Amino acid sequence: MKVIRSTAQLQKTMAQLRARRKSIGFVPTMGAFHEGHLSLVRKARRENGVVVVSLFVNPLQFGPHEDFKRYPRNFARDRRLLSGTKVDYLFIPNLRSFYLAGFQTFVEVTELSRGLCGKFRSGHFRGVATVVTKLFNVVRPHRAYFGAKDYQQVVLIRRMAKDLNFDIGIKILPTVRDQAGLALSSRNAYLSDQNRARALAIPYALAWIKKEVRTGKRNLSALRSEVLRRLHQSLDRVDYVEMVEPESLTPVKRIHGPFVVAVAGWVGKTRLIDNAIIRP
Ligand code: PAJ
Repeated sequence: MKVIRSTAQLQKTMAQLRARRKSIGFVPTMGAFHEGHLSLVRKARRENGVVVVSLFVNPLQFGPHEDFKRYPRNFARDRRLLSGTKVDYLFIPNLRSFYLAGFQTFVEVTELSRGLCGKFRSGHFRGVATVVTKLFNVVRPHRAYFGAKDYQQVVLIRRMAKDLNFDIGIKILPTVRDQAGLALSSRNAYLSDQNRARALAIPYALAWIKKEVRTGKRNLSALRSEVLRRLHQSLDRVDYVEMVEPESLTPVKRIHGPFVVAVAGWVGKTRLIDNAIIRP
């Protein structure tokens, strides 16, 4: 695995690989790797001649009172975890040379950024869309890999790729969970054992609603109230519980096909998100 920090050098290397007709698979990340990240890397490895992972804690997608400064950073551990996966290039751009002085161009996916996490994290998805655009332009991969855990993010990136004519296959992989069912997240590192146990209310509530719909329950507002009640029992705060259409992310009023239940809540100072696709 070659570590590249210079954007110009990465662009040059990628151009040479494309000239040699190599297919390039790309996994953008913010580091603090776990099995969720590694599942994307392994899939990219199976499907491409060359695999590039980027590690960049993107300040643009953090709000002024969010955890940018304390976001987990552990390069030695990340490098060790990746070495088992046969990644070819690890791109770690330097903050100041990636966002040059005078930077002022942003990408906004308007409608899809408004709901769910967009309501609570103003500017977050603009930061995500902008950095992913920059990374796509630098790497120019054939395929890029994202996890369904960040459901709004994947829908938005797919839309952006379509709208801006990125000739990149956007691949979406299922959420990887720990044994108890908690979705893996770099932010889980903030949780004490006790808080981790409380966070399990999220996957349990999602499993509960899945089961209810499977057994024929159709009253969405009653189902939503019960999910909220269960979450409030364990979490310190619930940002939202929403049932949305899988593609448009607009609220579902009546069950007429597959829909997504998306949840965001807090345990102490840790914000957690999760979702489930429900197929009645
Ligand atoms: P990060 O949170 O590091 O996640 C990198 C990728 O791993 C994302 O596609 C995310 O959806 C995926 N991922 C995280 N947890 C997962 C899990 N439990 N199962 C499967 N996949 C999982 O998401 C970002 O970084 C950033 O917003 C980024 C896209 C890199 C832009 O800065």
